[in-house]
Amino acid sequence: MFDVLKIREEFPILDRKVNDKPLVYLDNGASSQKPKAVIEAVKNCYENEYSNVHRGLHFLSNLATEKFEAVRGKAMSFLGASDHDEIIFTSGSTEALNLVSYAWANQNLKAGDEIILSTLEHHANIVPWHFLRSRKGIKLVWIDPSESGQISLNMIEEKISSRTKMVCITHMSNVFGSIIDVKKICNELKKRNIVSVLDGSQAVVHLEVDVESIGCDFYTFTGHKLFGPTGTGILYVNRKRIAEMEPFIGGGEMIRDVSKDNVTYNKSPFLFEAGTPGIAEIIGLGAAIDFVQSLDRNSVLEYEKLITNYARTELEKLDWLVKHSFHKDNLAIFSFSMEGSAHAHDIATILDANGVAVRSGHHCAQPLMNFIGVPATCRASLAFYNTREEIDTLIESLRKCKKLFG
Ligand code: ALA
Repeated sequence: MFDVLKIREEFPILDRKVNDKPLVYLDNGASSQKPKAVIEAVKNCYENEYSNVHRGLHFLSNLATEKFEAVRGKAMSFLGASDHDEIIFTSGSTEALNLVSYAWANQNLKAGDEIILSTLEHHANIVPWHFLRSRKGIKLVWIDPSESGQISLNMIEEKISSRTKMVCITHMSNVFGSIIDVKKICNELKKRNIVSVLDGSQAVVHLEVDVESIGCDFYTFTGHKLFGPTGTGILYVNRKRIAEMEPFIGGGEMIRDVSKDNVTYNKSPFLFEAGTPGIAEIIGLGAAIDFVQSLDRNSVLEYEKLITNYARTELEKLDWLVKHSFHKDNLAIFSFSMEGSAHAHDIATILDANGVAVRSGHHCAQPLMNFIGVPATCRASLAFYNTREEIDTLIESLRKCKKLFG
């Protein structure tokens, strides 16, 4: 059975107070806290093992390269990929999705081709496709989610035309916590030769992901939401697509030879990793992956479902709270607002005074805010280190908001 108090001991920051109150950290959808193992891995790199990677013949450069490249193997097994070449280090999902847009879509799509997107998407999975629309005349075709925050295969099939070339969707909504059946969707897209791009930034934190069984072409996640350092991310590219890609960012490491009038290129993944990467940070991401993998992920998920259910039940008792797409199958993320004078930022400010950290705003999902008809929501997003007592503090603090704002 999952022991939440024991896991909390691994996260030093959870012991601190904010505004003289014990911290209740419910902003995990934005970024999660770091376990000692990650902090220690970054520190150890700088104290004992740091040098640039892939460039030197000296001891420290070889050691750093070995530690750094080992993370590629960890990410490969974490995602169920079968080849190191399919794992590209990025600075996060945003860079990864821009990479897919430039390195694959820009080469392979032409004016009039269609990309299907969902209204659930984070701006990182919208703006790179807008760029392509302006640059190449690609058409963006939108799917609105169901009331529970779902996007189904049927909804996608209704939008597919003979011009559909790609479907870019999230695996888990960062606003509703709805989990999309991407396996069913991608397997159908594969049959129709439509390329799939999945934003797994929220999903990998909660679910075991196997990209080969999902059958996607591209899958991305960001390290800082997975208890790892900022500035790290992974892009999985199915090997079939690698040959269809062109370089995105030019510079050192992605080349074989450079002359005054010619460049020849390195192969994937190095072709897509120009410049010195976040070495210590990627090593920290490796420690985060090890940390997550060392847990019994089934027990973690069971525990997360328990606290999710507890939070939903308690929030539902607040009948004056406006709940956005609360559904029993959604996980870990709750978006809500209040009718009347309290803006989402007001709610978040009162919660903060009680030690409760949530995000308020549009959550980098403005098309979704427009769809649900609000400028902003308050979002509580849970991680496996959150407790029922913390949910009680959230509820108590929301009651104080109600008293203040009527
Ligand atoms: N993408 C992050 C969020 O959902 C920042 O809050």
